[in-house]
Amino acid sequence: MIKVLVNGCNGKMGQEVISEISSNEAFEVVCGVDKNENDKYNFNVYTDLNDIKEKPDIIIDFSVPKATMNILEYAKNNKIPIVIATTGLSDDNLRSIKEASKEIAIFQSANMSYDISLMKKIVAEVAKAIPDTDIEIVETHHNRKIDAPSGTALLLASSINEALGNTKKYDFDRTSKREKRSKDEIGFSSIRGGNIVGEHTVSFFGEYETFEITHRAYSRGLFAKGALKGAKYIMGKKNGLYTMDDIV
Ligand SMILES: NC(=O)c1ccc[n+]([C@@H]2O[C@H](COP(=O)([O-])OP(=O)(O)OC[C@H]3O[C@@H](n4cnc5c(N)ncnc54)[C@H](O)[C@@H]3O)[C@@H](O)[C@H]2O)c1
Repeated sequence: MIKVLVNGCNGKMGQEVISEISSNEAFEVVCGVDKNENDKYNFNVYTDLNDIKEKPDIIIDFSVPKATMNILEYAKNNKIPIVIATTGLSDDNLRSIKEASKEIAIFQSANMSYDISLMKKIVAEVAKAIPDTDIEIVETHHNRKIDAPSGTALLLASSINEALGNTKKYDFDRTSKREKRSKDEIGFSSIRGGNIVGEHTVSFFGEYETFEITHRAYSRGLFAKGALKGAKYIMGKKNGLYTMDDIV
């Protein structure tokens, strides 16, 4: 059995991972880390990484960027592979992850859904086929999400931008502008409300027609399952940075 440390174990996604593992014979949660103690689980929950007694085989992280950076350091020092699912990471954070991947295997994706990885490939192909369209990305999430636009919206945009030779600028906010939309931009809109798990639509607006591609996630279990897929994938792999694209 693969022994897992869940970072952010009290959170919505941490609980999903724990529940998913409870019905998966390949994994076992040996401990959790969060900023608050929690005695609801049948494993230890640590608030200080120095206190961890268990020897996990892998770490799964769904937390906040600061906590991700702390657990990354722990993973590096203890030579433990890590799955990083936390979003809202800064360029500095991403550089640290890349650097750490020279010393341990890291699986990182702002969206752990296999279908979103497919969507990235599809939107890149569409963008190349109809490059003169106005490209807009609309994402909708629950009212507790703190980062905007979503990491997934940025993933989709960067896949499109790479396909178009990085010719696009990102427009996150038109409220302060008094000018027409330019051809070389990808526009983002973020909607927050209720309990929506995650919806992403990429629209290609032409003069006479619009082509739209939408992905809707119905359950957070999807991301927990994907994180476990990533965990299995990097177990025993050599040091490096892996993503869902490697699996797709
Ligand atoms: N990659 C994906 O597929 C995917 C899918 C869903 C969510 N996410 C991301 O995962 C992250 C967590 O999402 P969530 O819905 O579970 O959020 P959440 O707010 O429910 O959970 C975050 C947890 O992190 C804990 N935390 C905060 N500071 C900490 C610290 N310093 N040390 C340890 N733990 C700390 C919080 O106490 C909380 O329990 C977010 O960044 C979210 O965007 C990614």
